[in-house]
Amino acid sequence: MSPATVAQSVLDAAGPQAAAIEGLWWLIFWISVGVFAVVMAFLAWAVVHRRDRPTSDSSLTRWVIGGAGATVVILFVWLVASVWVGRAVASPQMSDAVTINITGRQWWWQFEYVDTLPSNRFRTANEIHIPVGRPVVVNVTSRDVIHSFWVPNLHGKRDLIPGYTTALWFQADQPGRYRGQCAEFCGYQHANMAMYVIAEPDNDFQAWLSAQRQPAAEPGTERQRRGREVFLAATCPQCHSIRGTLAGASFGPDLTHVGSRSTIGAGVLPNTAENLIRWVRNPQDFKPGNKMPAHDLNDADLQALADYLGSLK
Ligand code: CUA
Repeated sequence: MSPATVAQSVLDAAGPQAAAIEGLWWLIFWISVGVFAVVMAFLAWAVVHRRDRPTSDSSLTRWVIGGAGATVVILFVWLVASVWVGRAVASPQMSDAVTINITGRQWWWQFEYVDTLPSNRFRTANEIHIPVGRPVVVNVTSRDVIHSFWVPNLHGKRDLIPGYTTALWFQADQPGRYRGQCAEFCGYQHANMAMYVIAEPDNDFQAWLSAQRQPAAEPGTERQRRGREVFLAATCPQCHSIRGTLAGASFGPDLTHVGSRSTIGAGVLPNTAENLIRWVRNPQDFKPGNKMPAHDLNDADLQALADYLGSLK
C-alpha cells in the first residue's frame, strides 16, 4: 500500500533537517510576535499618557539606547540560531545512505539511483522512493537553466546549477508521499515542475528498487505488443528510453517503468490511460512550451500505445 499524501508545508516537518528549519522558523516567528506586541504596548501607552510638554532629553536617550540594544541582542540570537541550524542540516551522515543523482531539466526531474554495481543503476523521473529512517544523499545539478530542488516537509531549497554539482542530504522519519517543486524560476512551465518523494518502510523500498532495476516488462497482450511497435516506429525513441528495447535516448524522461508513476508531465496530469492518450496527442494542451511535440497518431494506435505504457509498472 502506498503511503498517504502529506500536505506540502514547511511547518509539517517529517525529518531532522526540516525539523531544524521549522524550529528556526518558529523561533523567528515568536520573537517577531513578541517585538510587535511590545511596540504596540508602548504605542498604546504613549497615546493614553500623552503630555503637552516634551520629554527630557536624557530619558529619551535612555529609551533609544535601550531599544537599539534589544534589537542588537535579538539579531544576534537569530544569527547564532541560523548558523546552528545551517550546520545541523549540512553535517552529512553517510552511513547506509541511499544516493540519488538529481538533474533539473526544463521542466521535469531526472533521478538516477546510484549503486556501486553499474548494472544496478537506473534512471527514473519526477517521482522517487526512499526508505523511512535512512539518510538520502542527493547530488544535484542542471542540464539547462538554474532550477531549485525543494521538498518543504523534508528539507530547505537547494539550487541546481548547470555544470556544477552540489550535494545535500535529508531523511524522512515518517512514511508519506511528499510533494516537492522547483523553487527557482526556470521558464514558462516553472510552476508545473513538481515531484513526489515517497517515503516507505525499507521492505517496500527494496521491492520498489528491485522492480525499477529490471528492464521493461514484455507486452502481455496483442494490443500492448502493437503499442510497443507504435512507440518504436514513432518519434518517441528520439527522446525517451525504455530499457530492454531499442529506445535509449535521454532527452526526455526514462519510460521503462512509467506505469508505476502517479503523474504525467511532472505532476500535470494523473497517470491514467485516458490522460496518456490526451498527453501524447498534444502535450502542449496541458503544458504549453514543453519540449514534447504533438503526435499525429490514429485513435487505435494511441490506445495501444497508452495500454503499453500503462503496463510498464
Ligand atoms: Cu525548474 Cu523552476
